Amino acid sequence: MKVLITREIPERIVEAAKARFDVTFRDEPCVGLTEEEAAVALRDYDAILLTLGDQFSARAFEMAGDIRCKVLANFGVGYNHIDAAAAAAAGVAVTNTPDVLTDATADIGMTLLLATARQAALGDRLVRGGGWKGWGPTQMMGTHVTGKTVGIIGMGRIGQAVAKRCHYGFDMPVIYYNRSAKDAGLPARQVESLATVMAQADFVVVTVPGGAETRHLIDAEALAAMKPEGIFINIARGDVVDEEALIAALAEKRIGAAGLDVYAQEPFVPEALRALDNAVLLPHLGSATLETREAMGQMALDNIIAHAEGRDLPQRVV
Ligand code: GLV
Repeated sequence: MKVLITREIPERIVEAAKARFDVTFRDEPCVGLTEEEAAVALRDYDAILLTLGDQFSARAFEMAGDIRCKVLANFGVGYNHIDAAAAAAAGVAVTNTPDVLTDATADIGMTLLLATARQAALGDRLVRGGGWKGWGPTQMMGTHVTGKTVGIIGMGRIGQAVAKRCHYGFDMPVIYYNRSAKDAGLPARQVESLATVMAQADFVVVTVPGGAETRHLIDAEALAAMKPEGIFINIARGDVVDEEALIAALAEKRIGAAGLDVYAQEPFVPEALRALDNAVLLPHLGSATLETREAMGQMALDNIIAHAEGRDLPQRVV
């Protein structure tokens, strides 16, 4: 079987893939396949281990014409860069990597929550810039975290893992907005509307899946419902929030701060956002630990192996 791996992945998975398949490795750590390259890949390979940023759009499937590929094994839980309907219509199965990245991603949510509340990035810049003049009782006062209310938008696996950390680690009351009720195994109150969570929470953490259904779920109106000192954290997908509306709310100090791991047009981050001291900005690090990335790679590879052996694909989503 001819397999394409579209990005640099942990060495252990490279070796495991080579031992099993005729593998082509794209020599690219960060840049994804264009639609044109995705089309060629669909035509040339039996299976593709791909990831975020590879553009398997409806147009890519259309351009591919005669498709050889049977499996798109996505390295990542979110697969909104793959047009699910086009894949299904072309008879291409799609798999993803749930569960193995839940803890790491929730940890990045907490990193951003704490870093925004305590101005950690700004403090780091102050020290590095040589501008720190000494300890002062009123210097760089942040917001207390313990006991504050967290509002979770999207109570799936990652939302529940954030809730667990907030409840057990920081005594935070948990409220959430989700289509259905979820039992996170801890006290968490479902609220009926997005606006209510936005208004009642001191920290809003967004953990919904990306895609057309959630695009701009957090718009100017939702942001306007937040407390003036409220902190907004996004570890989901950039386009879940209207980025311009968020920048305006931060610039005009209508909300306290934002901690972002994701952006509308990655890796582009608007200058207006980069200029704001009340935003902590990470380069999409949610699942970026060696242990997690190895587990994700193994899971993606296992799905391709299952296909090669004629078994059901364990993490099939399309
Ligand atoms: C990363 O963002 C993922 O969806 O796994």
